[in-house]
Amino acid sequence: MTQQPRTNVGSSESRVDGRLKVTGRAAYAADHSPEDGIEGIVYAVVVDSAVGRGRVTGVDTRAALEQAGVITVISHLNAPRLPYLDNSSSNNPPGTRLRVFQDDQVRFFGQPVAVAIAETLEVAQHAASLVEVHYDAEPPSTDLTAAPADEPATYARGTADSALASAPVRLELAYRLARNHHNPMEPHATIARWDGHNLTVWDKTQWVVGGTQRELAAVFGIPQPSVRVISPFVGGGFGSALRAWPHVTIAALAARETGRPVKLVLNRRQLYFGTGFRPAYQYGVRVGSDKSGRLTAMVHDIRAETSSYEKFTEAAMSPGQMLYSMPHVRQAYATVPLDVNTPLYMRGPGYASAAFVIESAMDELAHELGIDPIHLRRRNEPSTDESNGLPFSTRRLRECYTVGAREFSWNPRNPKPRSTRDGDWLIGTGMATAVYDTLRNTAQAHVRLSADGTAMVQAAASDMGPGTYTSMTQVAADTLGLTMDTVEFRLGDSLMPPTPPHGGSQTMASVGSAVNDASDKVRRQAITLAVNDPNSPLHGVNPNDIIVRRGRITAKDDPTRGETYQQLLTRNNREHIELIGSFAPGQDRFSMYAYGAVFAEVAVDARLGLVRVRRMLGVYDAGRIVNPKLADSQALGGMVGGIGTALLEHTVTDPRDGRIVNANFADYLVPVNADIPDLRAVYLNGNDPEASPIGVKGLGEVVIVGVAPAIANAVFHATGRRIRELPITAEALL
Ligand code: MOS
Repeated sequence: MTQQPRTNVGSSESRVDGRLKVTGRAAYAADHSPEDGIEGIVYAVVVDSAVGRGRVTGVDTRAALEQAGVITVISHLNAPRLPYLDNSSSNNPPGTRLRVFQDDQVRFFGQPVAVAIAETLEVAQHAASLVEVHYDAEPPSTDLTAAPADEPATYARGTADSALASAPVRLELAYRLARNHHNPMEPHATIARWDGHNLTVWDKTQWVVGGTQRELAAVFGIPQPSVRVISPFVGGGFGSALRAWPHVTIAALAARETGRPVKLVLNRRQLYFGTGFRPAYQYGVRVGSDKSGRLTAMVHDIRAETSSYEKFTEAAMSPGQMLYSMPHVRQAYATVPLDVNTPLYMRGPGYASAAFVIESAMDELAHELGIDPIHLRRRNEPSTDESNGLPFSTRRLRECYTVGAREFSWNPRNPKPRSTRDGDWLIGTGMATAVYDTLRNTAQAHVRLSADGTAMVQAAASDMGPGTYTSMTQVAADTLGLTMDTVEFRLGDSLMPPTPPHGGSQTMASVGSAVNDASDKVRRQAITLAVNDPNSPLHGVNPNDIIVRRGRITAKDDPTRGETYQQLLTRNNREHIELIGSFAPGQDRFSMYAYGAVFAEVAVDARLGLVRVRRMLGVYDAGRIVNPKLADSQALGGMVGGIGTALLEHTVTDPRDGRIVNANFADYLVPVNADIPDLRAVYLNGNDPEASPIGVKGLGEVVIVGVAPAIANAVFHATGRRIRELPITAEALL
């Protein structure tokens, strides 16, 4: 059957949910209310541990329970034992999960040790403050550099150590990356209600089915369909909502114990202890090359923090294996168990951290050899993926470099550090390469085309901000041959067809392809109905010669011959045509990644060490761009996040008790408008049909990768100072 014209895909549509959001009518997790059928909500406030390791020896709840309006206080002393069935998945790291209120052990500072439930939020807060917890405390282990590591994961090709020993040019470099917290605008929140054995939760989650629903079913030992998860809007996530944290269980447990619907909202401070984070890294790299800059070997020694009770790993080894051509690579990636909460994926997980090291090291090598950083990267561009021998589906890094150098005015560039001044400011430019895996997973979507000519599309996806509501509407509208205002896309309910986690930049490729498939099937069924219907003007026409535009089915070469969906369905007494569509990634015959080249100009105050980013450009090879306006919101947002990682963000732990000392927005610095200069993103006009039927590779992660090293490299160019530790602080530059 003929291809539908793309009229909406590729167009900079504004968010279809924009009006709901700016008028405050979009209901985030904690916003759900009696209007949604939740009667008699009570409030839960978590009491968290004031020591970083040890045992709870007593919980005195008398003062709390005396308060009018307090319903109960739950701790390990009175909580029921919960089944906590094992449900290990890639997003719930295997191991002994933190089991809330199941024993007296304190595993990290801020661990939930009790919860107060009351008729109002204020009373619950006051009651929580009156709960007296007694501890037998021990000194926690929180220092990544001092604690012993687990057995490392390893990778090797060739003989890297001997190749390094004989390399004409050698660098041995040690980098450190601070822990970062996701800090979404919307705090994590859950409302839980039991109806007999069935549990409904309104939750902030990036994965209604595999995250919250599966976790709660396992914790309470009930069938997964007995848990319904509703999450229509997510106010940012960056990965923090990819799994259900203990507070989700606490809300459900509190609801079961009190027989009332319970609302639990973490406050900003609690987000630092109650949800995950980007782990701190210690990353040593040795680089060998010939005198022309052709890489011969790299050795990566990676250490990253994890918790004492779960082993969290991310894709920190991938870029070192496939980004540049070289015969010899050896990697060791060891997790270091500490008395901390378990980390979790944060935007560009693994890749962003590894790219800071690799792309800084490439800049060091370019400087050492006196080669332009772009030329050095071109010289080491592989023709296949050397980690597995597969051809690239699309890899257009050379174009990214060319377009980036032109649009950024990279040349002419005096490579000498500290060669450009603007008054008190030292000016420098830097660049870095970005890469992120094109993840895809099985997904389904449901499309119902109604006799009134409108369509409803549903999938259990999330929209934490990239504009999923809008982009899916664009895909469905094109494939169905409808206008966007006659298509409604719904997401965020575990009753809808299942989708993968809304993370790792896989929603557009996976869910978008399922939406495309379902829409395609529905359109084909309508066309079949028309050509077989003796009363249709299209009776007998070859289905391949039919297209649908603006809800009207016509012969391709005679637009006057046709009818609307409405006419067709009504005449045939069909209320609707509805079908499930799906996407399943095939066998990987190709190496699939999104790529980018990131350019930054910084100014560094020569006397104060203050770094200001002046301008930044990213050029991306991410396959088809469904909506350039939404893509910009991803790319510019990724740059803002990367500026935070590069210059500001640093979760600081007090080694004496494991307390995070800057667990608030006054002390944990994120970029504000005054930190953000002129940012620009350019997308290579692309289509990667190997990656997904709609040609999409994924964009949301790759746009943060490469930002921190581009800035670090610009700082070196400006000052001659090589800072191998993130964030880059004024202190380090003085
Ligand atoms: Mo993001 S770490 O893909 O939610």
